[in-house]
Amino acid sequence: MKFSWNKSKKPKLVLAPMSGYTDSAYRQFIKSIEPKTVLVTEFLSADAIYYKSKKTLEMIQFDKSEHPIICQIFGKKIEQFVQAAKVVEDLGYDGVDINMGCPARKVIRSDHGSALVKIENQGKALEIVEAMSKAVKIPVSVKTRLGWNNAGGLLDFAKLLESAGCKCLMVHGRTTQEQYTGKADYEPIYKVKEELEIPVLGNGDVCSAQDAKDKLGNLDGLLVGRGTWGNPWVMKDIQNYFDTGEVLKTELSMIEKIPDIQEHAKLMVKVKGEERGVMEMRKYLLMYVKGFPGAKEMRKDLVMVKTMRDVERVLGKLLPRLRRG
Ligand SMILES: Cc1cc2nc3c(=O)[nH]c(=O)nc-3n(C[C@H](O)[C@H](O)[C@H](O)COP(=O)(O)O)c2cc1C
Repeated sequence: MKFSWNKSKKPKLVLAPMSGYTDSAYRQFIKSIEPKTVLVTEFLSADAIYYKSKKTLEMIQFDKSEHPIICQIFGKKIEQFVQAAKVVEDLGYDGVDINMGCPARKVIRSDHGSALVKIENQGKALEIVEAMSKAVKIPVSVKTRLGWNNAGGLLDFAKLLESAGCKCLMVHGRTTQEQYTGKADYEPIYKVKEELEIPVLGNGDVCSAQDAKDKLGNLDGLLVGRGTWGNPWVMKDIQNYFDTGEVLKTELSMIEKIPDIQEHAKLMVKVKGEERGVMEMRKYLLMYVKGFPGAKEMRKDLVMVKTMRDVERVLGKLLPRLRRG
């Protein structure tokens, strides 16, 4: 069935795009935990897609289990955005999202990412949305921030994005200048929702079903990013809250987590091959054991794993300790 932001059931739970983290393996893993999650790729360069960069064409691959899946692209040239959107559509994605939120210096210095929300670049941003919306049938969405250094212009910009053809607006409740500091402010996002017809999703600092309850307000859904690190099971709690209104907190023991962690590692190996998959799994393994008694001494084993057998051996070493505990 064709995906539509507007027609699908709300509130929507979305895995926030995180470069270096939300690769196909992580997305498949999150989906196996909470099948209703809408997935978004890491941001991919429109230029790199346009010029058929080997690495990007590898990163853009996804598994059929990932639907609905949105491909997020960043760039600054209209033609590249349009051609990249066509590639995204041909690959079978359910939507294409424009990154207008990345605050990384090297990205904004070249007028990519969040630089598009600067008042002098907003005209270009609208042209990009309009041109992409005309070029593809899949919905074009925008993920952005409150504004460059304050939220004063958000509502006007949001209205213009909507009239340019944007089908869903996702807003991280911080400004570009704030990067990741302070707390996400949802108030300006609620105000935008009051005035727009298209779905408006909020994002920032959702780490539990209770956070989702506190932050959802009048919004059509939430994106969850860092809250899934070491705790992907939170997606189940949040979706359960959306479905039932009940606030639960899944408390899994380490023993209960191990089969899921192994599953994540297996997906990494399936998607990236054993050498790269296990190497890249190290950072997640550290997240899974964070806060666990003895995590510090385990670190040195975890950062050395090279094969799937190593992963199983290190996790296996935990079991006697867990059974005693
Ligand atoms: C490591 C990292 C990488 C990120 N990469 C992207 C990205 O590729 N595209 C994007 O729109 N946002 C990106 N973000 C921002 C997140 O999508 C999200 O807006 C932000 O982390 C706030 O949500 P959270 O508190 O749920 O993590 C990234 C954030 C982090 C921490």
